[in-house]
Amino acid sequence: MFGTKKNNPQIDKDQLELIKHAQKRIKQKKRLYTHFVVFLIGSVFLILLNLVLGFGKDFKPFDINWFVYAILAWLFLLLYHTFSVFVTHHFMGKDWEQAQLEKLVTKQKQRIEELKKTHIDSNQSTTSSEIDTKKKTDLTSGLTIIVATAENNAIGKDNQLIWHLSNDLKRFKTLTNGHHIIMGRKTFESFPKPLPNRTHIVITRQPNYQVPDGVVVVNTLEDAINVSKNDPQPFIIGGGEIYKQAISIANKIEITRVHGRFEADTFFPEVDSSNWKKTHSEFHEKDDKNEYDFTFMTFERK
Ligand SMILES: NC(=O)c1ccc[n+]([C@@H]2O[C@H](COP(=O)([O-])OP(=O)(O)OC[C@H]3O[C@@H](n4cnc5c(N)ncnc54)[C@H](OP(=O)(O)O)[C@@H]3O)[C@@H](O)[C@H]2O)c1
Repeated sequence: MFGTKKNNPQIDKDQLELIKHAQKRIKQKKRLYTHFVVFLIGSVFLILLNLVLGFGKDFKPFDINWFVYAILAWLFLLLYHTFSVFVTHHFMGKDWEQAQLEKLVTKQKQRIEELKKTHIDSNQSTTSSEIDTKKKTDLTSGLTIIVATAENNAIGKDNQLIWHLSNDLKRFKTLTNGHHIIMGRKTFESFPKPLPNRTHIVITRQPNYQVPDGVVVVNTLEDAINVSKNDPQPFIIGGGEIYKQAISIANKIEITRVHGRFEADTFFPEVDSSNWKKTHSEFHEKDDKNEYDFTFMTFERK
């Protein structure tokens, strides 16, 4: 789709090795041949130097011309070179060492693979399910529900909040500032505009739901949680439908309990004390800016 795959001719590893080896042998033999030719020319040159030009003509150890010793020494080197090319390199050269090393490494690798397999097999029954659970737990470990509920668990009517509590709004802003806020489509539509400095994640089943720039649309709660995986504390901010689904996976609930009972069409699920323990409670009386008494409460999963 993104490009055409090239159909390169394939040479297998063994063939490549054979070619490399053959090339190397040819080079070695060429060098030996050159050495032989240089030896012949050099020997003639040494003989001429001594006999024709008279160089060192008085230097005759054991009454033999010095060029004979020189040529014999060179011949010895040439024989040694020949021996290396045809015997030593062939059987115990670097290639041979390399081959031995590779054999040992392959054996070690096989052994390691066997050990790994044994280890995985012994843990097989628990591994995959444990990983799944761990992944889920990691993703939801900071997941926090934030809600304002009445004593009868009422949270909204006609897609609006039922009360105006200035301190509750302030607390909401402080807690969610800089975080991901996950909400149902209806709650999103109850806002006049997106809130600043928060990443809005809207859950809807509609395939082409349109939102302003910067707002993220997903089709499941799971996707919403995945999108916010880099946030240590993503917030579920409502409404009723989303709270119902999220309460079984969230780890914390920040509740503003509004002291009163209200007529409503949307409700928060019951906070079951066998699953949740209250870790904080702070009562506030009603005043000019807060039309009802309320209590800030924090619940953490047991
Ligand atoms: N007191 C509070 O703290 C508080 C906080 C927030 C909201 N509220 C109130 O709650 C009310 C709104 O709550 P609500 O229950 O009516 O609506 P909601 O939970 O905000 O949104 C419901 C919508 O979310 C989408 N949705 C829900 N579950 C889904 C899933 N599993 N997969 C995909 N999409 C899913 C659907 O959108 P589509 O229909 O587009 O598919 C559904 O219609 C309002 O009155 C609001 O003021 C109160």
